[in-house]
Amino acid sequence: PLPPPFQVPLPIPAVLKPVGTSGGADRYRITQRETSAQILPGVTTPLWTYEGTFPGPTIESRRGRPVTVTHRNELPVPTVVHLHGGRTPAASDGYPTDLVLPGGPHAHPGRAHAGHGMHDPRAVVTDLTRDYTFPLDQRPALLWYHDHRMDHTAPAIWRGLAGMHIVRDDAEDALGLPAGPRELPLMIADRAFAADGTLAYPALPEGPGVREPYLAGVLGDVILVNGAPWPVHETDAARHRLRVLNASNARHYELEAVTDDGRRLDLVQIGADQGLLAAPVTHRSLPIAPAERYDLVVDFSGVPMGGLVRLVNRLGSGRTRDVMAFRIARAAADDSRVPRTLSADLPDWRRPDAVRVRDFAFRAGRMRDGHGWLIGGRPFDPARPDVVTRLGDVEIWRLVADVHHPVHLHLVGFRVLSRRGRPPLPHDAGLKDTVSLRPGESVEIITRFDGYRGRYLFHCHNAEHEDMGMMANLEVV
Ligand code: C2O
Ligand code: CU
Repeated sequence: PLPPPFQVPLPIPAVLKPVGTSGGADRYRITQRETSAQILPGVTTPLWTYEGTFPGPTIESRRGRPVTVTHRNELPVPTVVHLHGGRTPAASDGYPTDLVLPGGPHAHPGRAHAGHGMHDPRAVVTDLTRDYTFPLDQRPALLWYHDHRMDHTAPAIWRGLAGMHIVRDDAEDALGLPAGPRELPLMIADRAFAADGTLAYPALPEGPGVREPYLAGVLGDVILVNGAPWPVHETDAARHRLRVLNASNARHYELEAVTDDGRRLDLVQIGADQGLLAAPVTHRSLPIAPAERYDLVVDFSGVPMGGLVRLVNRLGSGRTRDVMAFRIARAAADDSRVPRTLSADLPDWRRPDAVRVRDFAFRAGRMRDGHGWLIGGRPFDPARPDVVTRLGDVEIWRLVADVHHPVHLHLVGFRVLSRRGRPPLPHDAGLKDTVSLRPGESVEIITRFDGYRGRYLFHCHNAEHEDMGMMANLEVV
């Protein structure tokens, strides 16, 4: 029973309250647990959640103010937390084999009842927790946290393990961008549901990866924004800042904002994955690959009162064409602005800065147990260092793809240098951490491996491709 579009109000995920704020740092606690929610009318959907909601609660942070999140795993499986886009020491970056084992009701049966006995020498730990520490010494941006367990990331995100984390600073606050209720985080994710409301995933409940015909990735026929199907947001006839995240496992979107009379509103891009652009870039439509974020300003002031602005996916068909809508309900004063200069601290590495160039092919191939997805002809192996680089080195990476692959690097932001040997496209602007390689395309990126030494990752962020081998180790020494 799919609901008609634009009926359900857009939910805004709650902002998580710190449990402590001492010593210039914020401490949070998140319990990962099973719950059910009514996403579609008349049925309930079992979910895996951070703190009982999908999306998980949003964490709001200030640049340079460290955050520690204590995750407690009450799910029936091990988990791994990764802060996507975070400049994080390796110990807290959520390496895929760095597990938080299940505690609580799902601990080993013998343990769960072992006791309340603080004083009982036989008592064992029944809940397993882990502290993740994020220095957040980085440009303000919309980051997101999600599961990253080896071979099982795609089904875990699909079941609900994703949330947003916003980093801000004084310089950004001073720009006068739309704020408060006119700044909306939008986590877009498609899902498929069985008739009883359970999420349909081809490899659920436990198998790693998926098989034919899902090699391209798992798509859903219901588009959720902040966990609600095709929601509507009633709001003012004024500028809005839309912080869009594509948290879908495999679906690509090309977004446009269309009024009732078919007029397309400008999408004024002010930021990319890793924060503000140097200057705004105006788009009529905007492609967004899995894990990418776009920070947009859309002006609803010219929309007739009561009118609808639909956010449409040009790549969708039927119901997957619609994403969400804004109902323009009130005239309102608007003192927000989009300055012509947004930020001055955008890294601007040049080709001659690079001390080496590396080549990576992202292609389908044979793995031990059938077809998979490979980087440089090899599937992921946690034991094999694929890239070893020196802290501080600038490198150019040349990435080539067979089909669509959104390529993500941990730890660093990068600039796109070229696409198909030509200058980057308008939506490649700014500092990115995920770049969409389109079928047959080659893309050059440049970055400095800055921040921390240790073992990180780069991978395709089509979550099914990632689970089926398309990941590699990046060691900073
Ligand atoms: Cu969004 Cu390796 O992660
Ligand atoms: Cu891929």
